[in-house]
Amino acid sequence: MTPDDLRKYLEYYRDLGMKELYRRGHGPGARSRGEETRFAHNISEAPSEASVLPPTPGTQPLAPEGESLLEVLQDIGDCHRCRLCEGRNKIVFGAGNEHSPLVFVGEGPGADEDAQGIPFVGRAGQLLTQMIENTAKKEGIDLRREDVYICNVVKCRPPGNRTPEPDEMEICGQFLFRQLMAIKPKAICALGGTAARALTGRKEGVTKLRGKWLRWRDIPVMVTYHPSYLLRPYNQNAKREAWEDLKRILHFVYD
Ligand code: URA
Repeated sequence: MTPDDLRKYLEYYRDLGMKELYRRGHGPGARSRGEETRFAHNISEAPSEASVLPPTPGTQPLAPEGESLLEVLQDIGDCHRCRLCEGRNKIVFGAGNEHSPLVFVGEGPGADEDAQGIPFVGRAGQLLTQMIENTAKKEGIDLRREDVYICNVVKCRPPGNRTPEPDEMEICGQFLFRQLMAIKPKAICALGGTAARALTGRKEGVTKLRGKWLRWRDIPVMVTYHPSYLLRPYNQNAKREAWEDLKRILHFVYD
């Protein structure tokens, strides 16, 4: 790799909001796989800003030209880049229509998803499917779950369904970003606080962020409640708000 290639490569990841890059099989979470090997450090001073501002003219292209989801999946391989690999059964890459104008992003796989390798197939997933299909039907939009694309910030189940750690989000987030660049959707729906933080860099809670358009690079992002939160019986008001958010997204994307 020439110095010019290396500079372009680092600029590309900086534009994605990455602060640090790790060689495959290395990094802070890959403790069982050997010594950490950092080859780039602090290439972006302001990742959160970079992720919400529109791209700066003249910066590097969004993705390696024409990268497909399959290529992203192949690059993930039998991933051991972070500690989440230690307890996983299956990597949960994503599912649905890879040309979808709408992508839903959750936090990370739960037990059912880890067993099947498919995102949002447990109770929360069933609610998400109902939310998508019932809201679309009510609004006169012909849409099934398989018409959209669904994935998560982290692709391996965090032990005990804990929230992913910042380093896990950063390492796995680069694959989420590459998925989004391959799909180039018209809009993204961030389900819950982890997805909202990964995509927008904003630290406020979902209650503050939901219901308004934010951005991941130049793609509009709507934050709404995670379906697991909506499953709790005392969150009726949040349910109504999530339905409102979804209606807005669906009309924006499909009208
Ligand atoms: N919760 C998530 O965030 N993602 C899934 O795939 C399932 C549950």
